[in-house]
Amino acid sequence: MLIGEAQLQQRVQELGRQIARDYADHEPVVVGVLRGVVVFLADLLRAMPELRCEVDFLAISSYGSGAGVVRIEKDLERSIEGRHVLLVEDIVDTGLTLRFILRNLETRRPASLAVCTLLDKPAHRLVTLPLRYIGFSIGDVFVVGYGLDLDQRYRNLRDIWVIDPPD
Ligand code: PRP
Repeated sequence: MLIGEAQLQQRVQELGRQIARDYADHEPVVVGVLRGVVVFLADLLRAMPELRCEVDFLAISSYGSGAGVVRIEKDLERSIEGRHVLLVEDIVDTGLTLRFILRNLETRRPASLAVCTLLDKPAHRLVTLPLRYIGFSIGDVFVVGYGLDLDQRYRNLRDIWVIDPPD
């Protein structure tokens, strides 16, 4: 086990308090990137009940394995023009997915665009990206649980575990 439930919950509470403070006057649109983010986002939203905000979702599929070729499978429901957008991810690894998403969202002219990621895994980062809120920085390990999967399994585990992925 890498990060236990209690540690996760404590850090998510801290992030929620900080985000609620920072965005108190901005009524942000909180955008979750499906599917891995759902568990973290559900807890994060409940860690900032005082914040006026909207919630929207993007679904992405990557193909070409690791080349950063990404397609939007499900787009936002509402315009973000002139809005303060907080993009929430479960993990940033190479950063290629996030770079694609940020470039795409920037073309929609939000008032601001910032990123919150539960996990930052810088070992294989290929592009430098601004990560405003980071839950935990982790080493070069494959993790599952708390939303993160291996072939769509283990998302429902309450802790984050290191697993040996098949070759
Ligand atoms: C994960 C994560 C990011 C991406 C990060 O999604 O949610 O979107 O990988 O990787 P990168 O920094 O190397 O681009 P995944 O493809 O596992 O889909 P999921 O959210 O449905 O689990």
